[in-house]
Amino acid sequence: MENLAIRIRNLSKIYENGGKVTKALKNINLDIKEGEILGVLGPNGAGKTTLINILATLLIPDKGTINAFGIDVLKESNKLREIIGYAGQDSEKSAYYRLTAFETLVYFAYTFRDVKKEDIEREIRYISKKIGFSRKLNSQFSTLSGGEKQATVIMRALVHKPRLCFLDEPSKSLDPVTAKKFRAFLKAFVRKENITTIVTTHNMSEAEEICDRIVLIDKGRIKFIGTPLEFKNIMDYTDKITLDMHLSRPLLSKLKRIPSVVRVKQTTGSTVIYTNKVNLSLLAVTSILKNENLEPKITVRSATVEDAFVKVMGNGK
Ligand SMILES: Nc1ncnc2c1ncn2[C@@H]1O[C@H](COP(=O)(O)OP(=O)(O)O)[C@@H](O)[C@H]1O
Ligand SMILES: [Mg+2]
Repeated sequence: MENLAIRIRNLSKIYENGGKVTKALKNINLDIKEGEILGVLGPNGAGKTTLINILATLLIPDKGTINAFGIDVLKESNKLREIIGYAGQDSEKSAYYRLTAFETLVYFAYTFRDVKKEDIEREIRYISKKIGFSRKLNSQFSTLSGGEKQATVIMRALVHKPRLCFLDEPSKSLDPVTAKKFRAFLKAFVRKENITTIVTTHNMSEAEEICDRIVLIDKGRIKFIGTPLEFKNIMDYTDKITLDMHLSRPLLSKLKRIPSVVRVKQTTGSTVIYTNKVNLSLLAVTSILKNENLEPKITVRSATVEDAFVKVMGNGK
């Protein structure tokens, strides 16, 4: 786990389109560990796809170096292609429409890679079962729904057990049940096969669930890198306690004086208590409410990666 898989240094990419210059990546430095699942987060236009496509040798940067498992990615792109799996953002367009899903998977894995046909076929059946796709394996690619095409392309990126796998918004068009199965499968599979995986997503709970580390990119720069837990520690609270009731000023002051309470906010009809020791706060809050004969509905929610994201991005501004 601690061995280095990819070393990125001073990576920059500029797009020039009709006189318009976009600095998509600005001097990115990043070390990716062998076997880890790295989540790449960031708002639209942050540079996530640009980064993935450069790593997957689909795009050439303007500056910088990338070394992956001893391969110079920019100079030895053919060599790198032998060890990667890739599912791009517009991957639905990237398969042969007249082949079935099964044929597509066999074709890509078998034609381009040094793998045994029986092994691939067994692996395809295994993965399909895991993500609930078995029923659709023999359907022609063109007849599949958007989500089913997406599932096919994700399987294509993994079925040959690459050393490195790049997935650009894989769960984008998957239904919630398939997305859940996909996450469970992905995590177990890449662990078992020791596949270093770089995955972009807008789904924060997905990032939290599957990623060992996350890197947050904004306007081409890295804003944060660390575990989901470290990311959440950006915030000064661990949990939010919400009461469905507006409280009087004296009562609010009492709540604010509880040592484990970080701050209290009132919105119309509800009171939100931010705490860094939820059990202690909850006890204190309920006892204060009881003394006042108040019985609001109380909900407790832990801080999430999404909360941290909103904080770092400045409420999306
Ligand atoms: N082919 C291109 N030509 C010009 N600008 C591009 C091109 N591809 C991406 N960009 C710009 O580069 C920036 C980063 O894009 P991208 O990497 O696709 O972001 P993300 O995947 O994080 O949404 C955006 O401002 C986008 O408009
Ligand atoms: Mg993108």
